[in-house]
Amino acid sequence: MCGIVGYTGSAPVAPLLIEGLKRLEYRGYDSAGIAVQEGDQLQVVHRKGKVATLAHTVDHFDFKGTCGIGHTRWATHGKPSEANAHPHTSCDGRIAVVHNGIIENFADLREELQSEGHTFSSETDTEVVAHLVERAYNGNLVEALREAAAQLVGAYGLAVTCANEPGVIAVTRKDSPIIVGKSENGAYVASDVIAMIDATRDVVVLGDGEMAKLTADAVEYFDAEGNPLSPKITHIDWDLDAAEKGGYSDFMMKEIHEQPRVIRDTLAGRLVDGALKIDELDMSAEELNLVDRVYVIACGTSYHAGLIAKNLIEGWARIPCEVETASEFRYRNPIITPTTLCVAVSQSGETADTLAAIRDAKVKGAQVFGITNVVGSPVARESDGVIYTKANKEIAVASTKSFLGQVVSLTLLAMLLAQVKGRMRMNQIRMLFRELADTAGQVEAILADTYSVDKAAEACVNAHSALFIGRGMGSAISKEGALKLKEISYLHAESYPAGEMKHGPIALLDEGFPVIAIATQSPIYDKVVSNLQEARARGALIVAVATEGDEEIQQHADHVIYIPKVRDAFSPITATVPLQLLARRIAILRGCDVDQPRNLAKSVTVE
Ligand code: G6P
Repeated sequence: MCGIVGYTGSAPVAPLLIEGLKRLEYRGYDSAGIAVQEGDQLQVVHRKGKVATLAHTVDHFDFKGTCGIGHTRWATHGKPSEANAHPHTSCDGRIAVVHNGIIENFADLREELQSEGHTFSSETDTEVVAHLVERAYNGNLVEALREAAAQLVGAYGLAVTCANEPGVIAVTRKDSPIIVGKSENGAYVASDVIAMIDATRDVVVLGDGEMAKLTADAVEYFDAEGNPLSPKITHIDWDLDAAEKGGYSDFMMKEIHEQPRVIRDTLAGRLVDGALKIDELDMSAEELNLVDRVYVIACGTSYHAGLIAKNLIEGWARIPCEVETASEFRYRNPIITPTTLCVAVSQSGETADTLAAIRDAKVKGAQVFGITNVVGSPVARESDGVIYTKANKEIAVASTKSFLGQVVSLTLLAMLLAQVKGRMRMNQIRMLFRELADTAGQVEAILADTYSVDKAAEACVNAHSALFIGRGMGSAISKEGALKLKEISYLHAESYPAGEMKHGPIALLDEGFPVIAIATQSPIYDKVVSNLQEARARGALIVAVATEGDEEIQQHADHVIYIPKVRDAFSPITATVPLQLLARRIAILRGCDVDQPRNLAKSVTVE
């Protein structure tokens, strides 16, 4: 949540900051601002609203400076407003700070600083940092930031600049990402590499407590005690195209269409000589064989990928598997032993609750695997092994292609566990792998014809609420379908196991109430059809996602969205796609911004 960016070099900084902030907007978009070193002063501009509003204002300032910092905000402390937008400044206006994270002890610090005469102009937690740096400043910005950071409790990625030190930006972090890069034209800092990828692909992912001093010609790195550090360079191999819409009207549509590639890339190189190969897990077959309990820990869409994994891990490997939202897992006392495997699923790899949960699980002795989309992210670094979903950068706030990458990765993990437990023979693995790979082409076929999805969307657009139902895999898929719809269309949507409808939600149904049913071929198909009939008898408008060739379903549904036939285990990969398209279409028809829905942010780095 919140994106920070900074540049010092030979080029005018304002356009670079604005471009960087636009790319970071997925992290928050309720207000934005920049601070630019102009002559021997700092000039600060903030605006409430999206970066485009800030950009419009900045156009009227004829900034000449070549060093500055910027921020796009997702409000935590203090409502979205101009006063609360970053950068925040010291009393004398000579120090400016941008921050991603939460300062938990800000109230005490604020009181202490106020008692010493510091005056505050915002309600944010961040402003204390500007005043702490001011108090500590003695001609060396890096030292002052080190002293300030030592007093902070919480999570922070911080970039600071000072009018007394032309061309200098000091940065540090704890539990919030900071990426530093250097090109011929200068040095860059950002919350995400996407803000600098057209300048450099070789970046440094700053570690917790580490610091950097950026100047136009060099970047110096230090540990928390101020000792020089040799940074580890990470090479970024995805393309800038990921940050462009590539001819689609929105990022969400582009990312939905990338899913066949994600499936292929996630599977590439995983079947070697007929056996599954996931070397990154860093555990021998013998160690894996000892695993007797699996927890999948995740939030949001990633949690839904976990629900699918539970069906596969228990069904194929016969290992008990629990799926928990990280925010609950971290505050209970789960049963963890050295033979417990915790699988953390996180697109961003920086979700605060997921990170806290795996730290706790490790302390309790579990093995931790991460499934993430971001190389070098905290989840990747803090896990014993990691599988990268090959989704590339996902920009739309509502997750689509990452979800499919997660489902494919978790399917591989379930197959691997079944293989080491001796519950799946090599020829079965090969057959399943082939079928899994075929889903890429099947998703392509779904994307090629969206007529029935569009028609169903038109039928649902004026509803006030929608119910998503399914059984087994269909139940997990329906949860993701409902989440997509509410996230981007603001239409209330609820998901229920179809068999539970009679225990409550059926009371909601009246004439035209949309019920979206996952009715693909499965051993419990007939039961789903019975539940559909019950809903239809109460006047509900039925949209069924069904398997090609199923003529019978037409008698029970107002709209049928056909998808290719796959085995039930792989139905989440195919059946989720029309639900993504349906949610997007309804949102567009309702005039919503599908890429940046209100109140949400892509990375939730606070509790
Ligand atoms: C936010 C995003 C969701 C995402 C969830 C978990 O709510 O808007 O799209 O599923 O966080 O994020 P993670 O990065 O841990 O998968």
